[in-house]
Amino acid sequence: MKDQRPSAILAFESSCDETAIALVEEGGRVVFQHLSSQIEIHRKYGGVVPEVASRAHFAVLDDLLSRSLADLARWDGRLVGVAATKGPGLIGPLIVGSACAEGLSLSKAVSFAGVHHLRGHLASVLLDESLAGATLKERAEELFPAWVVLASGGHTQVMAVEKDLSCRLLAETADDAAGECFDKSAKLMGLPYPGGPEIERLAMLVTSPPDLERARLFSLELPRPRSEEGFSFSGLKTAIRLKLQKHPERLEDPAFAWAVQDAICESLVAGMKRAYKKHAPSFPSKTWLFCGGVAANKTLRARLEMWAARERVVLRVPPLKYCTDNAAMIGAAAWVQAPQFALASCEARIPL
Ligand code: KG4
Ligand code: ZN
Repeated sequence: MKDQRPSAILAFESSCDETAIALVEEGGRVVFQHLSSQIEIHRKYGGVVPEVASRAHFAVLDDLLSRSLADLARWDGRLVGVAATKGPGLIGPLIVGSACAEGLSLSKAVSFAGVHHLRGHLASVLLDESLAGATLKERAEELFPAWVVLASGGHTQVMAVEKDLSCRLLAETADDAAGECFDKSAKLMGLPYPGGPEIERLAMLVTSPPDLERARLFSLELPRPRSEEGFSFSGLKTAIRLKLQKHPERLEDPAFAWAVQDAICESLVAGMKRAYKKHAPSFPSKTWLFCGGVAANKTLRARLEMWAARERVVLRVPPLKYCTDNAAMIGAAAWVQAPQFALASCEARIPL
């Protein structure tokens, strides 16, 4: 008789400063996720220190694994595979997490799949509860082919993505990534790492119409992209530095944080518009997905919705908890990616 119990993949993420283990069922349910963030550890350095990160992953992995194995024992289903991020990312942290995952796959006698971290971010949109009832593969068939904007701490790019997570790069940043721009701007403003949530928190204090009017006066000039496509953020960072040199009193001013957030969001939307105009004839999809840590920004999510309504395209963003690094998205990618995308060795840099 066929085993009716759900099948699941146990997935590991450890490419930067989050260690996470999640169990992801074929039907898209995240049975559990245990996640430990190193943000507090790296805060005093103003960014992630690779060797410190490797040791911190190592220090928490044992506890995360024990909790995961205890939950796994209580779950009534079939473990069919183990997956882990193999790159891109910090090489030490990648080796710590994926070696543990591969060892576990051997001891459980199940297959192992190496996952590209960015494919994990792409797959994070599949974890939306509004898609419940369909398997992850069926969800991918429904959503893709799609335009995907990936904006994280290291990447800002637009891709044409297919249901097996094969990707064609359409546009990318010429310099800094959007998340990097949030982080570097926050540092200039004396805010802690990571900068995105800090700038958002401060900007959210601007609520009344007079405050908003004042914040608009601080508007920053958007950097002109170097070509008719792609994104550029380094000019914005310089503009922020120069403004703060001239007006140091704006350092802790929520209105200035609002203007910084506004400029980064506008630059992102402008880059999407350019990519859409240029590539729509060769990629006729009407679905846009926005993922990566920056997709957690609520102002950006609202702007994207307005843009999508104007353009008459379908927009999807991942659930907030799966925007920043996590293991559930790695499990989702392992379920839907074409077998040839499974990565064999850990690499700090690997193109998609
Ligand atoms: O995807 P992610 O967790 O890690 C990478 O793969 O890089 O993205 C981290 C980036 C950081 O630059 C962080 O500042 C940014 O995402 N970020 C945000 C928000 N939450 C995280 N940026 C703007 N608003 C947020 N709420
Ligand atoms: Zn990431």
